Amino acid sequence: MPRGNTGGGMSARVALVTGAARGIGAATVLKLAEQGWSVLAVDLGGQDPALPYAMATADELAAVVDRAAAHGPVRGHLADVRDLAALTAAVAEAEQRWGGLDAAIAAAGVIAGGVPMWEVPVAQEDAVLDVDLRGVLNLARAAIPAMLRRPEPRSGRFLAVASAAATRGLPMLAAYCAAKAGVAGFVRALGSELGGSGVTANAVSPGSTDTPILAESARLYGLPDAERFAAQQPLGRLLDPAEVAAVLAFLAGPDSSAMTGAVVPVDGGLAL
Ligand SMILES: NC(=O)c1ccc[n+]([C@@H]2O[C@H](COP(=O)([O-])OP(=O)(O)OC[C@H]3O[C@@H](n4cnc5c(N)ncnc54)[C@H](O)[C@@H]3O)[C@@H](O)[C@H]2O)c1
Repeated sequence: MPRGNTGGGMSARVALVTGAARGIGAATVLKLAEQGWSVLAVDLGGQDPALPYAMATADELAAVVDRAAAHGPVRGHLADVRDLAALTAAVAEAEQRWGGLDAAIAAAGVIAGGVPMWEVPVAQEDAVLDVDLRGVLNLARAAIPAMLRRPEPRSGRFLAVASAAATRGLPMLAAYCAAKAGVAGFVRALGSELGGSGVTANAVSPGSTDTPILAESARLYGLPDAERFAAQQPLGRLLDPAEVAAVLAFLAGPDSSAMTGAVVPVDGGLAL
C-alpha cells in the first residue's frame, strides 16, 4: 500500500501517542484507529515512585491496544517520556513498522500539589515538570525529524495536551500550571520554527475531563470526588475523554492545515 502523504487519504497515516494506556491518550488512540490511522500507543507501563497515585499499567495499555486493533494496525510500546532515548526508539519502531511518521501526540501527564508550592516535595515537583514539560520537548525532539523525513508535500502534526491550567492560576497546583504554560509557549515557538515545512505544532487545553488525573486533583483539593469540578465549567458537566480526542484527531488530520502554534481550548468554557 502506498504511504502517500499528500493529505488526500487518512488510511496510510501513522501516529505515535504517549499517555496512551488510559484517559485522553487512550481515547485518542481509539479515535485515530477508527479513522484508519496506524498507531503506536506509548505509556510508562509501571509506577512512578515520586507520586502518590497510580500510573496506568502495561495491562491497561494492552487492553487499549486490543480494543483499537479491531479497527486497524495498533501496537503498544512501553517508554518513559522523560527518557529521550526510549522515545527515539519508539519513533524508530513506528517508522520501521509502518514506513514513516505523520503525527506525534504528547498526552502523557501527571499531577501533584495540594499544598503550598514551597511545601510540595521536590521529587513530586520534578515529576510534574519532567513529565508534563520535558516529556513534551522530548517527544518533539524524537518525532519531528521523522515527520520531516516524509517527502514533500508533507502534513506532519506535532500535538500536545496542555490544560486550562496553562492560563489559569490554580492554587496548590503551581508546578502543574508552570509546566502547562510552558507547553503552550513551546507549541507557539515550535509552530513558528517549523514555518512552511509542512509540519505544524498545536496544542489542546482541556478543561475538567473524567480521567484518573482529575480524580487525583479532587483528592489533592480534599473533594469527595471529581464530579465536584463539573459546576466550575460553564457546560455544567465533566468532559468525556473522547470529546478531547475528537479535537486532537481533527488537529492530526489534513483539515487542520491552516493551524499552527495554536492552543485550542477544549474545556466546556472553563477558561472563560
Ligand atoms: N483530565 C483532565 O481534567 C485534564 C485537564 C487538562 C489537561 N489534562 C492533561 O491531559 C493529559 C492526559 O491526562 P488524562 O486526563 O488522560 O490523565 P490519566 O492519568 O488518565 O493519563 C495520563 C497517562 O500518562 C501516563 N504517564 C504518566 N507518566 C508517564 C511517563 N513518564 N511516561 C509515559 N507515560 C506516562 C499514565 O500512565 C497515564 O496512562 C495530561 O497531559 C493531563 O495533564 C487533563
